[in-house]
Amino acid sequence: MAEFIALIPAAGSGSRIGEDMPKQYCLLAGKPMIYHALNTLYRVDRITTICVVLAPEDIWWTRYDWGEFADKIQVINCGGVTRAESVTNGLKTLRAAKHIQDQDWVLVHDAARPGLSIALVERLLDQLVADEVGGLLAVPLADTLKRANDMDRVECTEPREQLWQAQTPQMFRTKLLLEALEKAPENITDDASAIEALGYSPKLVMGDTNNFKVTYPQDLKLAELILQERY
Ligand code: CTP
Ligand code: MG
Repeated sequence: MAEFIALIPAAGSGSRIGEDMPKQYCLLAGKPMIYHALNTLYRVDRITTICVVLAPEDIWWTRYDWGEFADKIQVINCGGVTRAESVTNGLKTLRAAKHIQDQDWVLVHDAARPGLSIALVERLLDQLVADEVGGLLAVPLADTLKRANDMDRVECTEPREQLWQAQTPQMFRTKLLLEALEKAPENITDDASAIEALGYSPKLVMGDTNNFKVTYPQDLKLAELILQERY
């Protein structure tokens, strides 16, 4: 039977947030940011392994005690220059160690999305387990979209019907995802884009705005509020 493996790329530096540590270690509700996604994925029974991909030079991970996740976690210091490279390196390392098989499902989830809930992961698994391709959590766009000219003046209003914002986890079979990432254009920012570049059409599964990506300094406050409510 195919297994469900989570992979958390956590090898970024968080340049846009401008903190003095990589953003996945910024404290939220008293824990490093990555703790929250890890804790959620850990409590999904169908997920058997969680692989955390760190930067080779990471000096932060070992400052905390991760013992409560010990029976599912695998930590690999094989992060690359881009997110796609970190995911690829993680998958290749797991495969070489025979911790993952071609047909296993991999759920790639950003360390910087602490608002993920168990219910969202369960929904993703339920809706994709029998899918031919796989897919991702996403939310339909809420705001009106403007296209700007070079002077930051509105050129036109773009129709927003059928536009979704991609989130994570993004869930694909290991073999397909690795093949896609190896052939992907350099500038991709998620896993689904790599799959799309092969001609496949990933399924959009309804996400939740609480599962937003902490990217800019002001995002920390909102994430803190969401997490405080939870604990
Ligand atoms: N990531 C990674 N390896 C990289 C770049 C990013 O594993 N070389 C991870 C980040 O740690 C994060 C996720 O991919 O969990 C999403 O990336 P992003 O939000 O862009 O994080 P950073 O790259 O760290 O932030 P920034 O782009 O602002 O520098
Ligand atoms: Mg980045």
